[in-house]
Amino acid sequence: MKSKTAAPPSPAPALDPAAIPQHVAIIMDGNGRWAKARGLPRLAGHKAGTENLRRVIEACVEFGVKVLTIYAFSTENWGRPEDEVSGLMNLFDDVFDRELAELNRQGARLVHIGRLDGVRPNMVEKIRKGEAATRDNQRLTLCVAFNYGGRDEIVHAIQRILADGIAPEDVTDELVSRYMYTADLPDPDLIIRTSGELRTSNFLIWQAAYAEWVFPEVYWPDFGREQLLEALQEYGRRERRFGGVPGAASG
Ligand code: FPP
Repeated sequence: MKSKTAAPPSPAPALDPAAIPQHVAIIMDGNGRWAKARGLPRLAGHKAGTENLRRVIEACVEFGVKVLTIYAFSTENWGRPEDEVSGLMNLFDDVFDRELAELNRQGARLVHIGRLDGVRPNMVEKIRKGEAATRDNQRLTLCVAFNYGGRDEIVHAIQRILADGIAPEDVTDELVSRYMYTADLPDPDLIIRTSGELRTSNFLIWQAAYAEWVFPEVYWPDFGREQLLEALQEYGRRERRFGGVPGAASG
């Protein structure tokens, strides 16, 4: 596993503006292993991962990414040991308090995707407050997938489609997208999963149909501006085909 680079930050990155992904989504994996490698408790890894988020948000703003979705807590993560779950909840609590001013400073709008039923009420209130306080920011949309699961999202969408009495022949790709938590967001162009694990883990499984994936071999707390830049450069080298043939891509 590569450790954090000691090299100075590159100045103006050579990125083709036309090849910047509009929407980057990240599975922030490897906090536990990062901590273990240092003889620290797992929660120390989550704390480092939370602190790391600020520099990745800054870098997204710098590089012109318009939407950043982060997988903060999945519907399956409730199954982790109780002390890890409560430690994570306390961390989220602190982050929502601490980072709101920073999000406003960065011109970032906070949106949440996932289920809020079952989440403790003070957290729900913080998320709603954060969304309201940053609603008009336009530089970056920070979409936090919290208590989120891709299958759960699809089930939820089907339930609402049926409840709305939509006729089967009216159920189209576009309609289903409008029933997803991400209805107001473009599909992710680039999905990054840190730590070298090669799985989708129930993340944006509907929206990721044509996303490009990269799997940097660093644990999330060590993923920073340089690693994001490398991922964006890698994305710029890909030819997206959307099911078509080389040279005839629609985007
Ligand atoms: C996966 O690493 C990480 C998580 C389940 C939590 C991610 C959350 C953060 C980084 C905090 C983000 C904060 C906010 C408020 C959005 P892991 O524990 O699965 O690591 P391992 O695979 O090495 O055990």
